[in-house]
Amino acid sequence: MTSGGMTSEVPTRKLADGNEIPLLGFGVWQVPDGTECAAAVRAALEAGYRHIDTAQAYGNEESVGRALRESGIAREQIFVTTKFYPGKKDPVAEIEASLRRLGIDYVDLYIIHWPQGGPTWAWPGMERARELEHARSIGVSNFSLSELEQTLAVSTSTPPVINQVQFSPFEFRQGLLEGCERLGVSLESYSSLGTGRHLDDPTVETIAKASGRTPAQVLLRWCAQREIPVLPKSTHKERIIENSALFDFALSDSDMAKLDDLDTTGRTSAAREGKWWS
Ligand code: A2P
Repeated sequence: MTSGGMTSEVPTRKLADGNEIPLLGFGVWQVPDGTECAAAVRAALEAGYRHIDTAQAYGNEESVGRALRESGIAREQIFVTTKFYPGKKDPVAEIEASLRRLGIDYVDLYIIHWPQGGPTWAWPGMERARELEHARSIGVSNFSLSELEQTLAVSTSTPPVINQVQFSPFEFRQGLLEGCERLGVSLESYSSLGTGRHLDDPTVETIAKASGRTPAQVLLRWCAQREIPVLPKSTHKERIIENSALFDFALSDSDMAKLDDLDTTGRTSAAREGKWWS
């Protein structure tokens, strides 16, 4: 199967605050802290990724920071995201701890990881983190449309510019996507491969075969073609490279529609089918 090579330029999407986010990022959820994480991030940077997505809850910020330093790539060329763990109280204190672990002066994006305890209480602290220039952009994750609307209503200086949610053809949250667009919030996809579950779906496989691409590339391209940033995770170098080759082909309208029809959410405006927090 053709996996293609990394195209030299990863397209970006302009956020409502004017900052730009690369449509391809590297996700490190469930990558253990230490050598494995640092090696995976190094492989991604060598393959041309310039966007790394970590979180306080992942426990691997130190390894991400080590890989950033070892790469020798200038800080401003890499878009770094981390996420506020909402089991803690103070987004400012937690981003300051993240910056120490990462060994950098600011993150490009800081988002509330999930709306534990309600969607609005942490937002003033997120705005403060941005005012202190600890984060260039701020946003949320796992927020439904109504939770996003509540957050926008309490925002006094900076509204959220991103909502990072589980999003794939099988979790085609069209109500959420259209609501986000209307509110000036960019939707970002996590688990675009369904943590691997969607890769052997027959429709995805058929489209991949006909386009000379891999199932992973088809699933990721389905997002990227809508200007939705993707964050595929892999600890295998060849897959890291494969997942980066998304911008030298396009899916036809009919293939996009066939993939849309795989939706199992009823085109929901919810972010999740179930919550892991109370
Ligand atoms: P691994 O890390 O062993 O390569 P998601 O991004 O939706 O969370 O999916 C990540 C999962 O999919 C991981 O288990 C990862 O396994 C696997 N994966 C990532 N890229 C590919 C690929 N190109 N082909 C097959 N499996 C992949």
